[in-house]
Amino acid sequence: MRKKIIAGNWKMNKNLSEGTDLANELSEILTSSSTDVEVILGVPFTHLDKVASISDKFSVSAQNCSAQESGAYTGEISTKMILSTGAKYVILGHSERRAYHQENNADLVKKVDLCLSDNLKVIYCCGELLSERDSGNHFEIVKSQIEEALFHLSAEQISRVVIAYEPVWAIGTGVTASSAQAQEMHAYIRSIFTDKYGVDVPQALSILYGGSCKPSNAQEIFSKEDVDGGLIGGASLNANDFSQIINAF
Ligand code: 13P
Repeated sequence: MRKKIIAGNWKMNKNLSEGTDLANELSEILTSSSTDVEVILGVPFTHLDKVASISDKFSVSAQNCSAQESGAYTGEISTKMILSTGAKYVILGHSERRAYHQENNADLVKKVDLCLSDNLKVIYCCGELLSERDSGNHFEIVKSQIEEALFHLSAEQISRVVIAYEPVWAIGTGVTASSAQAQEMHAYIRSIFTDKYGVDVPQALSILYGGSCKPSNAQEIFSKEDVDGGLIGGASLNANDFSQIINAF
């Protein structure tokens, strides 16, 4: 049985006191309800330690890490530093980092390897631009993002990776992929893992959908067979909205 996961990606929002309030609010809601969904909060580096100490109802994720292990890299944050905060996950390859920080699949190989060797799980983001979907290249693009950054890993290492399919045209736009579009891509992603690793690895692989997911559309998207959860941006900044999405399973 695949793990159901709802992960919030706070991006660059909330100062430490606001983030602490949000995490506390969420902790209270999760304590008074029961769910079999794993909840993850992707918070800014400055919040990792504090938010990780608030509750065992959720795990904490960084939103990036350095591609270097340690040393003279001013302003960078290493995987070992992230691990020392109590964080369990790192979001890698988000389209905002690919677009604004020119992260490519080769950079991501280094980051993925460092995370896994330091016992951090990876939430690996992939997804096409609107122009790539319009020209019919969306499957090819997603395949290359996955192949080039992940297919050097062993089956055991893949068991510590979660995939987040986030079509770039749906991120922060209010335009969600239809549940049929999400299902089609998720099934495709599972099939390329099957081609590479055989049937067991992809059957255990959680594939999350991200892009304008909100309480009003979450249930429909999560009803699809190959959608194992969501990576939630804007709606994760409000405890009520986020908990409604968690309860949409
Ligand atoms: P939105 O939910 O705000 O569209 O963001 C999705 C996202 O980028 C999560 O990583």
